[in-house]
Amino acid sequence: MKGVLLAGGVGSRLYPITTCVAKQFVPVYDKPAIFYPLAMLMLAGIRDIMVVPDETNEHILKRLLGDGSQYGLNFDYAISREKKGICYGYGLAEKFVDGDNSCLIFCDNLFYAPDIQSVMMRAADNFKGGGNIFAIRVPNPSDYGVVEFDAAMNVLSLEEKPANPKTNWAVPGLYFYDDQAFDLIRTIKPSARGELEVTDLNNIYLSRGQLKLTQFSPDTAWVDIGSHDTLLNASNFVHTLWKNQGVYMACLEEIALKKGFIDVTHYKAMHDKAKPNKVLYHYMEQVLEDFLAAKSGKPKKE
Ligand code: G1P
Repeated sequence: MKGVLLAGGVGSRLYPITTCVAKQFVPVYDKPAIFYPLAMLMLAGIRDIMVVPDETNEHILKRLLGDGSQYGLNFDYAISREKKGICYGYGLAEKFVDGDNSCLIFCDNLFYAPDIQSVMMRAADNFKGGGNIFAIRVPNPSDYGVVEFDAAMNVLSLEEKPANPKTNWAVPGLYFYDDQAFDLIRTIKPSARGELEVTDLNNIYLSRGQLKLTQFSPDTAWVDIGSHDTLLNASNFVHTLWKNQGVYMACLEEIALKKGFIDVTHYKAMHDKAKPNKVLYHYMEQVLEDFLAAKSGKPKKE
């Protein structure tokens, strides 16, 4: 399974912030937005990831993420030179995906649930081909792709930002596809907004009887940081989770260590790098202590 992290698009609705900083770099509490979807791919156990920025952000993104080896990952980059939508950007990953299955995720989508790691691992492990989309209940479905489904989780219809949505179930920016996706994308025509829509790709899979749906549980939080309000909501959410529950979201070093992507020596070097950020440094220290204690079978310190 490969990962494709779409990091194109400016985020014009976040004007004036995005005049100089693209949406994927905007801080969500204490880290760049793109760390959160990257963490999702890592939680699913995905290490080979194609990052798709546009030309303006290529260099900044490479400076931020490098080749991925700091997290035990392998990054490749494809530059999206045209604003032709999600499927255009995803299509650039065809060679990289190379006949494998892939998980497509957007740089501005944040997810959290206490069991998010098992949700992601199950989704990746159980994926047997075709397409798999997710559904999450929202109060404003008209802002998203909307899915209608029956009690047996069969998808009945899919619409992109409908004025009169049939349900309250939005389709977030997280998808699993087999390698047919790239041929199917070539058959999609641009929408009224001039883009190759991901909903059109999903509708093709649906018409072929190859689209599966996974429903997120009601305790799943999902934020698409498309507006100033949702950006603030996301920061507040990450902050509250940390301050009230001690849950530190999207610590990439922690995930890499626990997943076995990096060893303890590598982790210690990353820990050292984090020194100027006292909170992160202390958190990473705790993670290492707990990790080593669990390995040696000693009870966890409270
Ligand atoms: C895109 C998709 C939409 C999906 C949303 C999730 O919308 O077209 O189906 O629900 O991402 O973030 P866009 O952000 O391009 O408006």
